[in-house]
Amino acid sequence: RDLSGKVAFITGGASGIGLGMAKAFSRAGMKVVVVDIRDDHRAAAEETLARGGAEFHLIKLDVADREAWSRAADEAERVFSRIHVLCNNAGIGVLTPIAQATWEDWDWLLGVNLGGVIIGVTTVLPRIRAHGEGGHVMATASLGGITVAGNGGVYSTAKFGVVAMMECLREDLAAEDIGVTVLCPSAVNTNIHDHGDRRPERYRVDSSDLGPHDAGLDPEMLKGMLASFGSDPLEVGRQVLHAIRHDQPYVFTERMAKGLIELRREALLVLIPDEEPDLERLAADRAMRRA
Ligand code: NAI
Repeated sequence: RDLSGKVAFITGGASGIGLGMAKAFSRAGMKVVVVDIRDDHRAAAEETLARGGAEFHLIKLDVADREAWSRAADEAERVFSRIHVLCNNAGIGVLTPIAQATWEDWDWLLGVNLGGVIIGVTTVLPRIRAHGEGGHVMATASLGGITVAGNGGVYSTAKFGVVAMMECLREDLAAEDIGVTVLCPSAVNTNIHDHGDRRPERYRVDSSDLGPHDAGLDPEMLKGMLASFGSDPLEVGRQVLHAIRHDQPYVFTERMAKGLIELRREALLVLIPDEEPDLERLAADRAMRRA
């Protein structure tokens, strides 16, 4: 796919992986709409993108807010006429274990990390279809959306949902000129650790609670880990650009994904009754359900 001159709408685009995508995309000649809830991140991104000569527009949006999504998409279309590439990337890395999760933890994490993707696709996909110039939908899940090792259960539940949603959407759009990709990163050196006091008021257990559950992993420790062995967000942005150009279903950022996926595969396969699968029947079933 030739992406030059095309417009990308990137949520969580003002920091980390989203900003990496914004830089990589604009260096490839795309226009980028950078959407983010944080004023400080948008201000810093504005400076970086302007310095790099990018053609961009910034919008403040909470991805969990349905009405605001429509207004943001309208604004993007007013500025750049149409959206071709939707990147549902915004997310919070709160690693609450399921056994400790409160309603507020579930509502916040699922609302942003899965709900944000659902609203994004529901709002923007019809607009991509309507202009008929083709396009792409991507979402940032996590390696924790494919294997659960080392991730908080609430986070992984949302990310498994994102992976399932993107796989299903890819099937739904197979006959159209709209590709679908899900990014499943391992550690990336971003600001994902920095959520400590940013839990919105409505998700606090009481008004004095800044989120004792948020520290599934100590933020300072997480920050140090990401800085020492996390991938470079710009490199991840380039990997996503490549995946969109070649309509690749998944992006994995590191080799270590192989071992973890292999472990999960083995753990599942060993429990399946040992009969020869009737592959022809499975393929026929699948084709029938798709028809
Ligand atoms: P980051 O914190 O640097 O960037 C995320 C951006 O999303 C921030 O600018 C933040 O303000 C924005 N954001 C958060 N909540 C939002 C909301 N409700 N509405 C709009 N914007 C919102 O972190 P990073 O790492 O770049 O995160 C991007 C995605 O990557 C997330 O979905 C995260 O779960 C995923 N991820 C990150 C990994 C890592 O090691 N950094 C590993 C696996 C997945």
